[in-house]
Amino acid sequence: MKGVILAGGLGSRLRPLTKVTNKHLLPVYDRPMIFYPIETLCKAGIQDIMIVTGGNSAGDFLRLLGNGREFGLKDIYYTYQEGEGGIADALKLCEHFAEGQRIVVILGDNILQDDITPYVRRFLDQDSGARILLKEVPDPERFGVPELDGERIVRIEEKPARPKSSYAVTGIYMYDRRVFDFCRRLKPSERNELEITDVNNAYIKEGDLFYDVLAGWWTDAGQFESLHLASNLVAEERRKKPVSA
Ligand code: DAU
Repeated sequence: MKGVILAGGLGSRLRPLTKVTNKHLLPVYDRPMIFYPIETLCKAGIQDIMIVTGGNSAGDFLRLLGNGREFGLKDIYYTYQEGEGGIADALKLCEHFAEGQRIVVILGDNILQDDITPYVRRFLDQDSGARILLKEVPDPERFGVPELDGERIVRIEEKPARPKSSYAVTGIYMYDRRVFDFCRRLKPSERNELEITDVNNAYIKEGDLFYDVLAGWWTDAGQFESLHLASNLVAEERRKKPVSA
């Protein structure tokens, strides 16, 4: 299976930190942010990775990551998203790379404790469809939020003022080949983006969206507070389990 890391967008919520560089190159404790999603995919045995970047400093990704051998990757591919058309707009650029295979997509600012291997296995056991990962959070209104009916997700709302559950849809998504058909049918949202939540709702309509709840901690690192939190969580991990530089 192939992996996609979405690291486009302009990182406007982190200005002025992102005025001259890309959000995903900023430090999260002792590593550039982009290292974390790469490591998450690598640990799950995914060896072909596409990075979608955009905005400032796109060339620095190549200088930092090269051919990916440092991570034990077979190969690393890069593409560039013009503007900030949304997560699903960035994903559209990966259709050719996916070659009709199933993909694991991770947002470049999502950092998590879990090894996702068991979730990926469960996805591979599905006949078709999509699989997402949820996490209970104190501030669901900042995220995509699932409305649950028993064990079933009936709908996902993007940043609802009145969340229907206390779960966030995290930025780790597993899709079959139909994801690109759903992306093509999207219309821009109120914030003028192609929303990944609309893609997930399309899978729900087909009765083909499944989920797991993450066991360990998870955070995005796209705002000052969450960037700070991410650094603290990683620092705590390092204290428990030091890594060589
Ligand atoms: O972190 C999880 C949340 O991520 C989900 O709960 C939401 O449903 C999902 O919409 C997303 O919400 P955000 O508003 O936090 O996404 P943000 O605009 O910060 O983008 C997250 C990452 O996606 C960013 O680090 C890079 C990538 N991205 C984003 C945009 C808007 C792109 O590659 N291109 C883009 O145009």
